Amino acid sequence: MDRIRITGGVPLAGSITISGAKNAALPLMTCGLLTDDRLVLSNVAKLADLQTMAELLAQHGIAVEPEGRSLSLGGRITNTEAPYEIVCKMRASFLVLGSLLARCREARVSLPGGCDIGTRPVDLHLKGLEAMGAVIKLDAGYIDATAPTGLRGANIVFPFVSVGATENLLMAASLAEGTTVLKNAAREPEIADLAKCLIAMGAEITGIGTDTLTIEGKKTLHGADHAILPDRIETGTYACAAAITGGKIFLENARTDDLGAVISALTEAGIIITPARNGFWIERTGKLRGTDVKTEPYPGFPTDMQAQFMALMAVAEGASMITETIFENRFMHVPELNRMGARINAHASSAIIRGVHHLSGAQVMATDLRASVSLVLAGLAAKGQTTISRVYHLDRGYEAVEEKLAACGAKIERLS
Ligand code: UD1
Repeated sequence: MDRIRITGGVPLAGSITISGAKNAALPLMTCGLLTDDRLVLSNVAKLADLQTMAELLAQHGIAVEPEGRSLSLGGRITNTEAPYEIVCKMRASFLVLGSLLARCREARVSLPGGCDIGTRPVDLHLKGLEAMGAVIKLDAGYIDATAPTGLRGANIVFPFVSVGATENLLMAASLAEGTTVLKNAAREPEIADLAKCLIAMGAEITGIGTDTLTIEGKKTLHGADHAILPDRIETGTYACAAAITGGKIFLENARTDDLGAVISALTEAGIIITPARNGFWIERTGKLRGTDVKTEPYPGFPTDMQAQFMALMAVAEGASMITETIFENRFMHVPELNRMGARINAHASSAIIRGVHHLSGAQVMATDLRASVSLVLAGLAAKGQTTISRVYHLDRGYEAVEEKLAACGAKIERLS
């Protein structure tokens, strides 16, 4: 299993190009199930999770062919079962349910089960599809869903915000009969990106960017070309890398408008952000200031940036409090950061971080995608050497992380 070794203490300097968003690419790829025509997605990152989605789609009959930084999807659905072996590797596999059901009137999709960051149920996805006329049964760990007369539009009010449930129902509603209204829908930029692609495929969706999406179902959708938006979490992560090392880097293709809450927190912590054409500069010249954040659905501070911001606060002046409101078990990076000399005390959904003067390199272990990158950030700032094991978590969501950081002067290498 690969490990990453970092010798810390080098302020980053240079430029990093931000890749296409993983969390947009995953639902966008499942749109390949909504049409027999060709769907071409551009600005696609090379990531293990997208490879997993390609495998899942291939066994449904949809071929996914890479063409440079694009993916070309096409084919007819030949199988409506999403097997446990793939779904258990990646929860986003569950996103095929809505499209398969809308298109084929039946689907059998393995339940994803819990994961390292919490139980993560899928009840909102299922209740929404039931409201649209699906009959859902649980059989041997699989969701058996049928809609013998097809899905029909419905008024669905989510009791709380779910990105995945909003995406699954948005895709299903695009091919349902009649009008669907999704209230208290997630407003993440990746959902707006999905809606744009669906519209390019012939769907009729209004309310994009708001918490109420109205979808007029169509009988069929057609092929389209769609460019995936830049990854706001990768952007925020590299912004934290510049900040934690006291460096200055340019983030090319990065957008500040999708990152409002993160930019506010970074600014409060003493980081200077200067927007430029096609990206922004990020720089720290003074000390880091302890800053409190609370994770929330978009436009709040993203849970996917919580671990990285905690690594940053570990070396800030004063104390900070980080509260996690989205997932119940998303502090696994805390003991690992503490092994590097951080002073973090987590209790229930909050963590108090007492900033230390410096972190010290250590052997640490990645536990999930964002936790692992927080250890990379800590390693970049730490005195001495840090070795991170289980980096396959990192490869799920960060493209060429060592190359991008090394190009800015970081002493980082992958050990096979
Ligand atoms: C997506 C992102 C993930 C991000 C998360 C929150 C992708 C591929 N993944 O995950 O990176 O951390 O949004 O921004 O885009 N919940 C239920 N029942 C449901 C659905 C969700 O109780 O049916 C709960 C979850 O357990 C969690 C919360 O709702 O506590 C939010 O989850 P959700 O927004 O659905 O996250 P994902 O779509 O799984």
